[in-house]
Amino acid sequence: MAIEQASQLDRGAHFTRFVEQMRATWRQGQDATLPARAQPLLEALLRESPRDEAWSALLLREQPVGRELYRDSDFGFSQMGHYHPAGHGGSPHDHGPYWVLYGVYSGEIEITRYRRVGGGTEAGPARLEIVATERLPAGTVKPYLRGEIHATRAIAPEGSVVMRFLSADIDQIERFRYKPLDRDNQPPTTGSPKAGNYQAIFGR
Ligand SMILES: [Fe+2]
Repeated sequence: MAIEQASQLDRGAHFTRFVEQMRATWRQGQDATLPARAQPLLEALLRESPRDEAWSALLLREQPVGRELYRDSDFGFSQMGHYHPAGHGGSPHDHGPYWVLYGVYSGEIEITRYRRVGGGTEAGPARLEIVATERLPAGTVKPYLRGEIHATRAIAPEGSVVMRFLSADIDQIERFRYKPLDRDNQPPTTGSPKAGNYQAIFGR
């Protein structure tokens, strides 16, 4: 049983309650309102967990690139923990048909949301424009829904502990990643990826 798995892992009291509440929310219905119902549960975990709870202490101490903290065997969702050093950032990508919650426990990141100019859905050359760049200070969570293109950037000088809740296993599906083509938009840059020309790559 997934609940037993959660307590066996012993990620801490707030984490165990978070998993129980998340499972109850999924049980209530897996419709379009689910990301908005899940968001405050992750926010509560981020705001209420002390720094010495098992899960937060682990991420602060070991500073992993990515660590699976929990995977639900009934509903298929998972909770990932990450440490993003200052300036850490990724290329724009989507999560295919799935949704994701990005939350910050300590530090601060920004997430930029993009849109394909002309709305293309094929692999190959693509132009991206910026929809919005949002700051996520500690204790905040933002959902990114089916097909929404986004990129994260850690802005806190001390680094950031980032919690990523995945609605399903994105390693099992093909999805888009966008490789920047413009010369002034190559990693590592000093900010989030800019609007401009990209190569849309579809794959795992
Ligand atoms: Fe993402």
